[in-house]
Amino acid sequence: MNATQEQLKVKLEQALVAAFGDEYAGVDPILVSASNPKFGDYQANVALSLSKKLGQQSRAIASAIVEKLDVSEICEKPEIAGPGFINLKLKTAYLEAQLNAIQADTRLGVPTAKHPQREIVDFSSPNIAKEMHVGHLRSTIIGDSIARILEFRGHDVLRLNHVGDWGTQFGMLITYLREVSPEALTTANALDIGDLVSFYRQAKQRFDTDEAFQETARQEVVRLQAGAADTLHAWKLLCEQSRQEFQVIYDLLDVKLTERGESFYNPLLPTVVENLEKSGLLVENQGAKCVFLDGFTNREGEPLPLIVQKSDGGYNYATTDLAALRYRIQKDEAKRIVYVTDAGQANHFAQFIQVARKAGWIPDDVELVHVPFGLVLGEDGKKFKTRSGDTVRLRDLLDEAVSRAHADLEERLKAEEREETPEFIDKVAEVVGISAVKYADLSQNRTSNYMFSYDKMLDLKGNTAPYMLYAYARIQGISRKGGIDFADLGDNAKVILQHEMEFALAKYLLQLGEVISTVEADLLPNRLCEYLYELSKKFNTFYDRNQGVQVLSAEEPLRTSRLVLCNLTARTLKLGLSLLGIQVLERM
Ligand code: ARG
Repeated sequence: MNATQEQLKVKLEQALVAAFGDEYAGVDPILVSASNPKFGDYQANVALSLSKKLGQQSRAIASAIVEKLDVSEICEKPEIAGPGFINLKLKTAYLEAQLNAIQADTRLGVPTAKHPQREIVDFSSPNIAKEMHVGHLRSTIIGDSIARILEFRGHDVLRLNHVGDWGTQFGMLITYLREVSPEALTTANALDIGDLVSFYRQAKQRFDTDEAFQETARQEVVRLQAGAADTLHAWKLLCEQSRQEFQVIYDLLDVKLTERGESFYNPLLPTVVENLEKSGLLVENQGAKCVFLDGFTNREGEPLPLIVQKSDGGYNYATTDLAALRYRIQKDEAKRIVYVTDAGQANHFAQFIQVARKAGWIPDDVELVHVPFGLVLGEDGKKFKTRSGDTVRLRDLLDEAVSRAHADLEERLKAEEREETPEFIDKVAEVVGISAVKYADLSQNRTSNYMFSYDKMLDLKGNTAPYMLYAYARIQGISRKGGIDFADLGDNAKVILQHEMEFALAKYLLQLGEVISTVEADLLPNRLCEYLYELSKKFNTFYDRNQGVQVLSAEEPLRTSRLVLCNLTARTLKLGLSLLGIQVLERM
């Protein structure tokens, strides 16, 4: 609900009480957007719902309300339609004043949260010594956008990279490297990350087939846990190497993260188990310590346990998440924790959160949200793979998007007979390529699987990044063509609304705040994408050579007013795209 709607709602509530008495205080006036813009902007449907209770015709109820309704500063005279709808049409002067106000506001009228709080977004979170895959890419893109939106709303956001940097995989890897590449355990960057990943695969194979190897690997884990100097040093080198590789991707995507991997919580794991023991939830089951879950059963219908400590003393992924949760609530003082992972982990989150709740670790004012997303599919509808069937390296994927954007741009320049410098072409290709990948991901409802298609995401038409970037650049083109500085339209730069298309664009511009607060609540960035796409389309109609209004060639004061609308559209696009992690181009 936006500020205007809120005001109207209050006025309607007051009118209800004035008309029918105090017992009608708090009755919802059922204020909604008008079903048909011809009748106005909003309608209140409350009269229809009261007809039975009051024993009156709903039209009569509606007129009794309208008689007491004072909205003259906001709306034209309310009209009653059909069986008793109260139609409200915003006054032109009111709309103009709102637009003039957002024009002067760097936040474009979007308020900051009433109660800013500490929020954690746990996202990206790849695993050391393994390649970052497309699932991590989705988490990185979606998590970054959510973090940007929460930050813009004024929350104190901790962007945490919960990397998998601890556990049995290091025992295998270090044991294997001692055999085949000992220098990798003592010298920084002795290996290429590609080699590291393939060594990891080979180590896993040895672990699965060779008992002596298994035993050594286990001892290596124990040495790591105990902090043996050489093993610890090797572990650090391996982490550092992966970290550098991840950073390349984060730089390309312009994503900031604070690394706080699983190892950080390692010293806190015994306390988790102790506390579960104290709260009486812990059960020993075949040597393992576990908590039985409600609502999770095996095939026989018996309750499933969440194992927090294995019979060999080792801890699990969930134990670390329990420790992390406690730390984030107690030390970070987080009021909302958002976890961005693939939907396949939904049970994991539901389970450890259930255990934490039973243990009484989650105060009432703390909200935990798992933000799940679907799979990335290839154009054949199957799991996304390279032609030869390998998993796609993220770096290759991003490079490919940029190089395709490059080729598209060169073709377009040729067709338009435009000359541009190589620097310009490289820059545009990079922004377009990376934005296309991000936008393609964000514009889908994240809960569905999404089909990765370079052709679709790079299309200049449709709900794509290039389309949106183009709309922005086109508006900047107006300022260049007219030799106008949008930032300096003068103090008299006021919006005047006359034409139907001006109204349509203006009203849409005023909805940004509402869209952002919905995204803040339901964490679905695709709603922001839809809004920006719709805005671009509205702008294109407004500015259409044949059906649109004249801008540069219009008479004053309409010319300046329309330039203000153009500039507001551009600023809204720029702000909205920045919240999706997308940078605009002045020219493309
Ligand atoms: N490292 C995990 C993976 O690659 C994701 C971690 C998500 N965050 C968490 N707190 N469990 O699947």
